[in-house]
Amino acid sequence: MSSLRAATFFCFLFTLLSLEFVSPWMNFNSYVSKKRTDLKKRCPNVRAVRNFDLESMMGFWYVVQYYASTEELPEYACMQSNFAFSAEDQHITMNFSYIFAEDPLREKLQGNITWIIPDFEAPAHWMHTEDIYEGIYNTYVIDTDYKSWSLIMHCAEKKKSPRYLSALLLSREPQLGDNVINFLREKLPRYEIDLSFMFPINQTCHNLMESVNDDPLAYILNEEKKKGKDVKFILKT
Ligand SMILES: *[C@@H]1O[C@H](CO)[C@@H](O)[C@H](O)[C@H]1NC(C)=O
Ligand SMILES: *[C@@H]1O[C@H](CO)[C@@H](O)[C@H](O)[C@H]1NC(C)=O
Ligand SMILES: *[C@@H]1O[C@H](CO)[C@@H](O)[C@H](O)[C@H]1NC(C)=O
Repeated sequence: MSSLRAATFFCFLFTLLSLEFVSPWMNFNSYVSKKRTDLKKRCPNVRAVRNFDLESMMGFWYVVQYYASTEELPEYACMQSNFAFSAEDQHITMNFSYIFAEDPLREKLQGNITWIIPDFEAPAHWMHTEDIYEGIYNTYVIDTDYKSWSLIMHCAEKKKSPRYLSALLLSREPQLGDNVINFLREKLPRYEIDLSFMFPINQTCHNLMESVNDDPLAYILNEEKKKGKDVKFILKT
């Protein structure tokens, strides 16, 4: 490959992967094969939790279940996240890590998302600071008790395609009781979420391989996933 072609290739790859890497459950580009009845044009009106205490929601959470309107199969394991609020720039940052459940190497992948709070009178509504999606992209805390569980939802509208919607069920411990899980899941169908696509995330996570995040050109390419395979390429300079 000539160096120009290589550069173009890496540029393309980066665009592709930065989306993938920003968040697995925010991936607009996933391939949807089956007919789904939960694909609507517009984002729902969301009732974010009232009297929300941002500070208490921060810190470490296991992602015990997730839904994304573009995901049809459970793919992830060991998804964990850490929320932090920076008083300095008034941003909320969530860093997270996960593995692909089928990955024999069990390599830990990482990413982060940053939000602003557009209205501090309604602090359970966040907006992405990253300018990676056209149009609106909102995140809402639907409910939380701060000390053990939390439910958040993202929704984005995009021209000429169904709205993109995802939900994360968070727990302070690796396991959350079925009664709480069911109580929280039942809050989602009103937003036209089909619960049969809301998947548990396995949190049995020993022997994970640390990802190669010291090398800016080391990315996992899981484009092949779209074709039904789970082939990975690790690109290094
Ligand atoms: C988030 O970042 C902190 C500090 O950089 C790190 O210690 C922690 O392991 C990260 N958490 C996740 C879930 O990635
Ligand atoms: C978030 O990710 C970006 C790019 O991967 C990185 O430069 C930045 O340091 C990360 N921020 C935090 C708070 O982890
Ligand atoms: C969760 O992951 C562990 C470790 O890979 C595995 O042994 C276990 O069978 C998994 N549990 C389920 C319910 O898939």
